[in-house]
Amino acid sequence: MEDNKLQELAPTTLAPLSGNGGRDSIHVFAPATVANVVCGFDVLGFAVDEPGDEVIMRLTGKPGITLSKITGDDGRLPLDPAKNTVSVSVQHYLQSVGRTDIGLDIELHKKMPIGSGLGSSSASTVAGLFAIKTLLGDDADPIKLLPFAMKGEEMACGHGHADNVAPALFGGFVLIRSYEPLDVVRLPHPKNLWCAIVFPDVDVPTREARQIIRKNIQMKDAVTQWGNIAGLVSGLFMQDIDLIGRSMKDVLVEPVRSMLIPDFYKMREMAMELGAVSFGISGSGPSVFAFTKDEATARAITQKLQQHLTGLKIGSNSYVSTINDAGPKVLG
Ligand code: HSE
Repeated sequence: MEDNKLQELAPTTLAPLSGNGGRDSIHVFAPATVANVVCGFDVLGFAVDEPGDEVIMRLTGKPGITLSKITGDDGRLPLDPAKNTVSVSVQHYLQSVGRTDIGLDIELHKKMPIGSGLGSSSASTVAGLFAIKTLLGDDADPIKLLPFAMKGEEMACGHGHADNVAPALFGGFVLIRSYEPLDVVRLPHPKNLWCAIVFPDVDVPTREARQIIRKNIQMKDAVTQWGNIAGLVSGLFMQDIDLIGRSMKDVLVEPVRSMLIPDFYKMREMAMELGAVSFGISGSGPSVFAFTKDEATARAITQKLQQHLTGLKIGSNSYVSTINDAGPKVLG
């Protein structure tokens, strides 16, 4: 995305620094997300309750951004503010609103695995952008933050897709109807839809998982795919969980990316046998997720899949939640 587009979409007015009760520091949480939702490559995503990342941001009084601390990353993320997606996105926002006079220190606390397919970089970036917006008392629509968050994605994996950052920012289930121009739609969803996530501890960088995808597709496959996307969106509107389940099939991306995930098809078989509504890759993987109609089924699935991965000598983490409609939240 061009910088001039960011300018066009950026807020034009800013409340004074002393807005929001004269706050000079803030602690924000932003949620993990499941992008693609099986059939909607780059256009569908939803937020979950856990995991998520946290940012603590303080005004310093000295122009410029520093990153004083990153925890939970095993030393993998850069503390150089010119190279970290959180500080770079925040810097773009400050430039766009004409507030480069501001001094900020950022602490990033990673509470989820990097390279997991759960929107790890998105959660960090969105937490940072939501923190600066709130700190400055900027009451512009959160949609204005989306291009800056996409800039962070571009930096993290070479492509500025929005299917992680948009649900992290708005919460809920989100459709990216169009990228040029940006057109984002929040979708309804059944309240009793549970999500079971299992992260097998193998590294699948999004940049590489994008490179292996086929560049050209057959019309026959395109027809299958858009039928499924339309079916999934209809099922969400109609609260029809069975329609949601039978629409969550991917003939374009999953056949290639599943090769990067240990025993993907075996895990799907186990999840479906235990009563999953659907099963697929979360984002670019290696995390996998299942929708279920209740919490007990979601927990049974995570337990079974983790046992299976342990048998393969692969460590794993799991998370169970409903769809998170709140998005980022201020913790303090
Ligand atoms: N839609 C993106 C992809 C999400 O599948 O590459 C990355 O998490």
